[in-house]
Amino acid sequence: MILTVTLNPCVDHTAEIDHLIPGGTNHVLTSRQDPSGKGVNVGIVLHQLGANPFCTGITRQGNADLLDAVLDSREIPHDFFPAAGQLRTNLKLFDRSRGVMTECNEKGSPVTAEELDGFLSLFARLLPQAELLVLSGSVPPGVPDDIYRTLSVSAQSFGIPVILDASGPLLREGLLAHPTLIKPNLDELREAFGVTVSEKQKLAGACRKILQEYDLSCLCLSMGEQGAMLVTQTEAWETPGSPVEVRGVQGAGDSMVAGLCLGLLHGDSPDKLLRAAVAAAQGSLEKPGTLLCERSDFERFLPQIPVQPITL
Ligand SMILES: Nc1ncnc2c1ncn2[C@@H]1O[C@H](COP(=O)(O)OP(=O)(O)OP(=O)(O)O)[C@@H](O)[C@H]1O
Ligand SMILES: [Mg+2]
Repeated sequence: MILTVTLNPCVDHTAEIDHLIPGGTNHVLTSRQDPSGKGVNVGIVLHQLGANPFCTGITRQGNADLLDAVLDSREIPHDFFPAAGQLRTNLKLFDRSRGVMTECNEKGSPVTAEELDGFLSLFARLLPQAELLVLSGSVPPGVPDDIYRTLSVSAQSFGIPVILDASGPLLREGLLAHPTLIKPNLDELREAFGVTVSEKQKLAGACRKILQEYDLSCLCLSMGEQGAMLVTQTEAWETPGSPVEVRGVQGAGDSMVAGLCLGLLHGDSPDKLLRAAVAAAQGSLEKPGTLLCERSDFERFLPQIPVQPITL
């Protein structure tokens, strides 16, 4: 199974407002709640693509049933350690007239040392059954910045490859364990490594330098509407942003990680790995709202993704 870890799941509360007035009283037109989390999203896409995910992490005793229901309804196996408190809320205010989303994300309530130990024991039980480990997203207060490093080191002791999709200190610390693949976006690359260049060849060069400096083998850089690139120590490939009809941007990065999982398990070459990543991302982009890529979307997009080498 592909083990995905979500340490800070949330409930996305999306409210649609005709014209957001900061400081005023805003009338909500529609409202919905979606329990979510990056590793959970990766698990959902993997399941829809026909792979066998298993979702773990830390949930909250107060409303764990919300997250359980999402995974149970899809028949995705899961086992989360239940910490005290409630799943954090991410408030998303969609302004219909301007077509923009304002987001207010909670940090999550603190996790105690005992609760973290509880999760680590659960993780240690699940890990030996994994063929691939996916570490993604933020962590709540109380979880140390080197958590992904700790989990990666455990995975590597079993020879299990690791994909890391995190930002800031979690990324910087996590890559010290040399995960198999990291997937930053442009902001995360700038924040973690101070990369400010924008020209594709220079970006690829900067990515290769990071791989060399931290002794990593593969970096997939996602660039939103500008597409993506995949860099190894010896080659780099890019795909321009495709003119896909974007109906929902949520989960594009998580879908990309699911595509990378399939490619890695399949032993794909770097160009094919990039194709699989972008096909899964595009499959989610054209789905409305929070819906994510289905297998038919993935198979339709896969042969259409144009990739070309970048000379390093
Ligand atoms: N507006 C867009 N038009 C075309 N392709 C897009 C667009 N947005 C995203 N993509 C595709 O999806 C991939 C992943 O998107 P993005 O770079 O936004 O990931 P991310 O920042 O990690 O997202 P997330 O917020 O889900 O973590 C991109 O590399 C690109 O291939
Ligand atoms: Mg992302």
